[in-house]
Amino acid sequence: MDWGMKNRMSRIFKEDGRTVMLAVDHGYFLGAVSRMENPRRTIEPLIPYVDSLMITRGVLRNCIDAKHNIPIVLRVSGGNSILDEDLSNEGITVSIQDALRLNVSAVALSIYVGAPHEHQTLINLTRFIDQAQECGIPVLAVTAVGKELEKRNAKYLSLSCRIAAELGAHIVKTYYCEDFHQVVESCPVPLVIAGGPKMKSEHDVLEIAYNAIAQGAKGVDMGRNIWQSHWPVAMISAIRSIVHEGASVVKATHLFESLKDKKR
Ligand code: R5P
Repeated sequence: MDWGMKNRMSRIFKEDGRTVMLAVDHGYFLGAVSRMENPRRTIEPLIPYVDSLMITRGVLRNCIDAKHNIPIVLRVSGGNSILDEDLSNEGITVSIQDALRLNVSAVALSIYVGAPHEHQTLINLTRFIDQAQECGIPVLAVTAVGKELEKRNAKYLSLSCRIAAELGAHIVKTYYCEDFHQVVESCPVPLVIAGGPKMKSEHDVLEIAYNAIAQGAKGVDMGRNIWQSHWPVAMISAIRSIVHEGASVVKATHLFESLKDKKR
């Protein structure tokens, strides 16, 4: 790995080799999703607690002050909306030049293994990797499932993550699932987990984060389960304690409870 690539990876993955990424890129196909109607208001208070932001260029340019020294993981795929039945019909939405102009630490693209546009999304990934590699920019592949949330099992995710890594992704973002260790074992690059749709209990989110890290994930890249919580700062702090301090679910839950009324 060249110095530039290593340097960008080390901005995202901290000295312990782990990362707490905040995913705020949902609007690229969901529009003004609940609690993200005003991105600046939702994202700004969380910046001090996260290691990087996964974001679109539109929200980055318009809603995040350039003074923040926060590593950016820029979403560069899209081209559909929640109104489409098939969400897999994605193309590349950002040039490598614009990603460089935005001083990103990594770029992110979705792949849709087993979906109608599987081939197109895998070729999107490889084409962008070729360009990003030239510039020393790591590429994060998201193993997207669209509306088929039931696909999230070890057999499918393992297939999807391995394909992403084989094609050259430097980081893979996937979902936590039963037997998650199988997904980790068969993926030779760092894995981070998404949170998925908002869960009823914060405790369940902390449990997933804990189990994922215990089974080898290198971090989390969660969105809705953080910023759709009534207590986003308490949530991200509790997640941080699991990822970077090795806190148990009980300890992280105590931290969450102790912070939730202090920091809204
Ligand atoms: C898809 O909308 C995006 O790639 C999100 O970044 C990803 O789904 C993670 O966010 P969440 O934890 O809300 O699932």
